[in-house]
Amino acid sequence: MANATSPGIPATLIPGDGIGPEIVDVVVRVFDTLGSPFAWETCQAGVNALEKSGDLLPPETLASIRRTGLALKGPLTTPIGGGFRSVNVRLRETFQLYANVRPARTIVPGGRYEKIDLVLVRENLEGLYVGHEHYVPIGDDAHAVAMATGINTRAGARRIARFAFDYAVRNNRKKVTIVHKANVLKALTGLFLETAQQVGLDYADQLEFNDRIVDACAMQLVLNPWQFDVIVSTNLFGDILSDQIAGLVGGLGMAPGANIGEGAAIFEAVHGSAPDIAGQGLANPTALLLAGALMLDHKNLHAPAKKLRDAIDDVLGAESGRTADLGGKTSTSKYGDLLIERLRG
Ligand code: NAI
Ligand code: MG
Repeated sequence: MANATSPGIPATLIPGDGIGPEIVDVVVRVFDTLGSPFAWETCQAGVNALEKSGDLLPPETLASIRRTGLALKGPLTTPIGGGFRSVNVRLRETFQLYANVRPARTIVPGGRYEKIDLVLVRENLEGLYVGHEHYVPIGDDAHAVAMATGINTRAGARRIARFAFDYAVRNNRKKVTIVHKANVLKALTGLFLETAQQVGLDYADQLEFNDRIVDACAMQLVLNPWQFDVIVSTNLFGDILSDQIAGLVGGLGMAPGANIGEGAAIFEAVHGSAPDIAGQGLANPTALLLAGALMLDHKNLHAPAKKLRDAIDDVLGAESGRTADLGGKTSTSKYGDLLIERLRG
């Protein structure tokens, strides 16, 4: 439902399910305190939508995103069985959200690593995620052989590399690392590496760039994560490394993500609907709040984005501000109250 009276930039809001509504409630209250930069159009998707309208991704929700070009999405449970395709993959394909951006920054001190500040840029539409898979039967074993085809295109590699280098320049980053497996997957990821290196040459006077083989990169992220700044990689490697990077800064409750295309951008937390803690006031809303900060940056609203990040840093800096996943006792809504107090203060 559109809220025609509120000021701000029209944006679609999908509360999601599981812990979604609890953490979205905090985000809405905090954004009201920030001066309502967005005019939310609340829409359903996921299992709630399925129960109401028989569709995980109703046409009204798609129409709203098409109109606003901007969405903040709570986590959505993917029903197991029944042949449902992931709503997230459908959204990426429908709106051609080719870039997945996942920044990771140490906020809570005293964890495994201090002063982490990395951004992973993942190609979101190509590679092994195109889903061209099949079995080859042998004798009476219908699944004797499994095959998958990965597809990388020069145009797709160029587009994501350009996005990563532009992002790096815009955000005053110093280095881009291209991550691949071109020593083995010579065509599939060789094309990605070669194309990204060519793009990098256009930025050589502004930034440094290098490359790493994915397995070595994974090890280096554990041994010395501070050597990395912006990492750009293919779909599957980016998926794996971004969860690893989230682990460097305290896990899923702290990890935001942006899915960006030419005509639309969808912001979300990296974590899922956490059914094990839903409805108990235990969820940490930080990842979704940080996704909201990315959304502000995307609209060049850098001042409120900074204000929000600073408030989160302050509240989580004290033990009394932390939710259970961070070793604290603060409830989801109390954490929201503390943030609002800090923002008003
Ligand atoms: P999950 O991310 O929901 O939960 C994994 C673990 O992390 C759980 O123990 C959970 O309690 C904890 N956790 C996650 N977010 C948290 C938060 N904000 N605060 C505190 N603790 C948090 O992953 P799981 O259990 O594998 O998936 C549950 C459902 O979510 C599945 O249906 C899955 O398909 C869906 N999912 C949806 C995503 C999305 O909408 N973007 C992404 C990942 C999973
Ligand atoms: Mg993943």
